[in-house]
Amino acid sequence: MSFDRKIKIAPSILSADFANFGQEIQAIEAQGADWVHVDVMDGHFVPNLTFGPQAVKAFRPHVKTVMDVHLMIAPVDPYIDAYADAGADVLTAHFEAGPHIHRTLQAIRGAGMKAGVALNPGTPAEAVEHLLDLTDLVCVMTVNPGFGGQKFIDMTAKIRRLRSMIGDRPVHIEIDGGVDPVTAPLVAEAGADVLVAGSAVFKGGSVDTPEVYGENIRKIRSATEGTWA
Ligand code: DX5
Ligand code: ZN
Repeated sequence: MSFDRKIKIAPSILSADFANFGQEIQAIEAQGADWVHVDVMDGHFVPNLTFGPQAVKAFRPHVKTVMDVHLMIAPVDPYIDAYADAGADVLTAHFEAGPHIHRTLQAIRGAGMKAGVALNPGTPAEAVEHLLDLTDLVCVMTVNPGFGGQKFIDMTAKIRRLRSMIGDRPVHIEIDGGVDPVTAPLVAEAGADVLVAGSAVFKGGSVDTPEVYGENIRKIRSATEGTWA
């Protein structure tokens, strides 16, 4: 995985057809997805349940780009090796998931993955100030995590603050929640480079009409063109 700050669209398969993940992943990649975002929820840290490591491992052979795994679970540490074995390229843990995020990020890198830290809307940018040299990605949640299809919460001030704290470090800023062609330019202009989008990518399409996914991805990407990135 090489580093750049170009806009990357990462469809969240939380909005895909749950009976057909292999074809859904192939369809979004063929239609221009840069990364594939996998939302892992435990019914405890967030009020919803999704994929364990076995499911994620089954997705792996279909992902030719980057498998970006977002853990909304607590605790995190007992599961790091299982998600490494499942083939995650990026493994993101929430700052709020436990008292030892520093140790968690070290363990994620130690297991051979890129380490991400996610911030809920109520958590300030400064929470990661002492973690930036241990981190490959900061995920700014623009919804309260747990469900797709929620309304975007404006976090542009936090994104700008993070962008200036990160400076020249090779750290991605990812935005997750409510990203669509209207909100994408706001976050891109503030300094984000990875845009997760679930409903805005999958809406109106299916594996039989994958060109709709392509159109939806293009609309998000082109809305960001002309911003600082
Ligand atoms: C929310 C998840 C998101 C979600 C985004 O808890 O982390 O990745 O799927 O979905 P949309 O784009 O529909 O807000
Ligand atoms: Zn997510």
